[in-house]
Amino acid sequence: MTVHKVSTAHIKSLAPREDFPILAQSVRGVPLVFLDSAASSQKPRQVIDSMSQYYETCHANVHRGAYYLSEQASARYENARITIAKFIHARSAKEIIYTRNTTEGLNVIAQTWGLQNIHSGDVILLTEMEHHSNIVPWQMLAQRSGAKLVYTPVTDDGRLDTDTYYRLLREQTPKLVSFSLMSNVLGVIPPAKEMIAAAHSAGAVVICDGAQYTAHYPTDVRDLDCDFLAFSGHKMLGPTGIGILYGKRALLEAMPPFLGGGDMIREVHLQSFSAAELPWKFEAGTPAIAEVIGLEAAIMYLQNLQMTRVAEHDRAITEYALGRLSELPWAHVIGPVSAENRGATISFTIDGLHPHDAATLLDRDGIAVRAGHHCAQPLMERFNIPATARASGYVYTTSDEIDALIASLRKAHAAF
Ligand code: ALA
Repeated sequence: MTVHKVSTAHIKSLAPREDFPILAQSVRGVPLVFLDSAASSQKPRQVIDSMSQYYETCHANVHRGAYYLSEQASARYENARITIAKFIHARSAKEIIYTRNTTEGLNVIAQTWGLQNIHSGDVILLTEMEHHSNIVPWQMLAQRSGAKLVYTPVTDDGRLDTDTYYRLLREQTPKLVSFSLMSNVLGVIPPAKEMIAAAHSAGAVVICDGAQYTAHYPTDVRDLDCDFLAFSGHKMLGPTGIGILYGKRALLEAMPPFLGGGDMIREVHLQSFSAAELPWKFEAGTPAIAEVIGLEAAIMYLQNLQMTRVAEHDRAITEYALGRLSELPWAHVIGPVSAENRGATISFTIDGLHPHDAATLLDRDGIAVRAGHHCAQPLMERFNIPATARASGYVYTTSDEIDALIASLRKAHAAF
């Protein structure tokens, strides 16, 4: 592997570290180095406080009570939707559906738009680098509808083979295209805008999985022109249990509801119901109100940091970490080894050391990384490996933490 020259500039945390109480602790007697933000990010005090404050001052169910607390809770719940719509540049808050997470968002599309529009023989075009969340819902839909799944391959250096993607669009004329804006394993960021435009020219509806990307890079759904975007709150400083499904209004209007129950109806009779208008048509049952408020606080925190600076920090950490990893001849990055068009989610294998053993040894030094197939078994098969170790950074990551990772990896490798 080529050794990259590493900038000696010290990379500081972009966010004030003291905002993240969890990061101040020691684990196993050593300071915690948290490098698993791609799985779930840590939360700043502002997010934690917003949820406590909500429970302490204005919790009541939303859209139900004609009394002060319920009005307050409903107003905060709906104002958050406007903040989220602005964050991704949606045309209207009606295009913002609250879900539990990215996975649920993708399943909503498969079970509503998918069942309505995908029929026997139709082609769904995915990519080999997808998370199981962007594969299994389409396999389930294919089983029910008789549709065919086709995959854009990944190149040996861990980038999407876009030439083949454009060829598959021409040859297979898919009805639906779905791909991740940033791979949770390879870190690679495909040329989404061009890919979406080409898919539209081929007549497809396009879904983007923004689970990794939206937390790290400015996301503009109008500029991208994707038809749907799903992402999760917990990877972007927000709480677990809240995600967003964005959809173009005309598509959402034409889709049947997903779950049936309270809040998603206009009227119910013994033999029939009519659905509520957008966005409530897709939000059955008492929602995750405190989590919505926590997500709004997370978005405001990110806006305060500025997403362009979040992206720059991400790039600096990526470059630094790839450079330091290239000093280890026995460590192999699975994914692009240059920081161009890839994010700070870096998977690697180590000669003679299983990724799970590597993660266990790193943990003894207080370093948290994920090891396994990362919910991307088809991608592991593509690279003929059972698993990788994965280090992933975010707004609080420093170059000192990357140095700690490298030192601990040297120690682990020497021990084996
Ligand atoms: N999707 C998350 C990850 O890649 C859980 O780790």
